[in-house]
Amino acid sequence: MTARSAPAPPDAPTGDVPETVVVVSDLWKRFGETVALAGVSLVVRRGEIQVIMGPSGCGKSVLLKHLVGLLRPDRGEVLVFGQPVHTLAVPDLDALRIRIGVVFQSAALFDSLSVAENVAFPLRRHTSLPEAEIAAGVRDMLAVVEMDGTGALMPAALSGGMRKRVGIARALALRPSLILYDEPTAGLDPLTGRTVDDLILRLRREMGVTSVVVTHDLVSAFLLADHLGVMDAGQLIAAGRPDEILASPHPFVQRFLATRTMEVART
Ligand SMILES: Nc1ncnc2c1ncn2[C@@H]1O[C@H](COP(=O)(O)OP(=O)(O)OP(=O)(O)O)[C@@H](O)[C@H]1O
Ligand SMILES: [Mg+2]
Repeated sequence: MTARSAPAPPDAPTGDVPETVVVVSDLWKRFGETVALAGVSLVVRRGEIQVIMGPSGCGKSVLLKHLVGLLRPDRGEVLVFGQPVHTLAVPDLDALRIRIGVVFQSAALFDSLSVAENVAFPLRRHTSLPEAEIAAGVRDMLAVVEMDGTGALMPAALSGGMRKRVGIARALALRPSLILYDEPTAGLDPLTGRTVDDLILRLRREMGVTSVVVTHDLVSAFLLADHLGVMDAGQLIAAGRPDEILASPHPFVQRFLATRTMEVART
């Protein structure tokens, strides 16, 4: 047996990850009169960073929630690691969720728990690792997000950027091979936002993580994306490489990019 400095990943990114990590086919979701998703289809390949942009209320968060089975579609299919998330029973869904890290729109830390306990939370919940290995795992993940030595702090003592990074450390604790980020740089100053972008890029480079990133931040989007999708009113109206999106003749895409560019110029 070899010594382990970090908790055994239930499913390391280097493990058995299929070539196609996410396949969304013709996804529909309505809340009462509101059509949140109107036929979205999307494929994300292993190791890729897929960025989703679009105006507020267009269905970005609802789409992400379908990828982890937090919402069930009215119609359509969601395959993650080849498994049908839309029909999985709870035990299988729980097992799948361990392989998916989610960084929610608000950092969503537990305010009554220290930074270390926040990061340890998924390890305590989903593994039976001994305390020493949990502590080592927490230290490792805090180091990854450059928050070494902050384990004893309470969330109230952290800046917005630090909270985001702890949220990312917690999402990483189980070594997921897919990470979903909902507005990871929202509310951060541009410099701090770029450190979060660097982290997302580094996780892909060093751990082969596949990422889906929802963002309003045009700089992030073009810095991160291998593929970019633009949503409007529940539909993915354009998808492709960043250069293809820039050259898209779609009037909404051009208007959206122009508006966001003016906002970036103002900051
Ligand atoms: N649980 C819910 N119950 C009812 N309506 C919902 C629910 N979740 C989302 N919606 C509605 O679905 C639509 C899409 O919401 P969603 O949260 O995906 O928007 P978004 O693109 O993430 O917006 P933002 O950029 O502001 O976060 C909105 O009209 C929203 O009000
Ligand atoms: Mg949202």
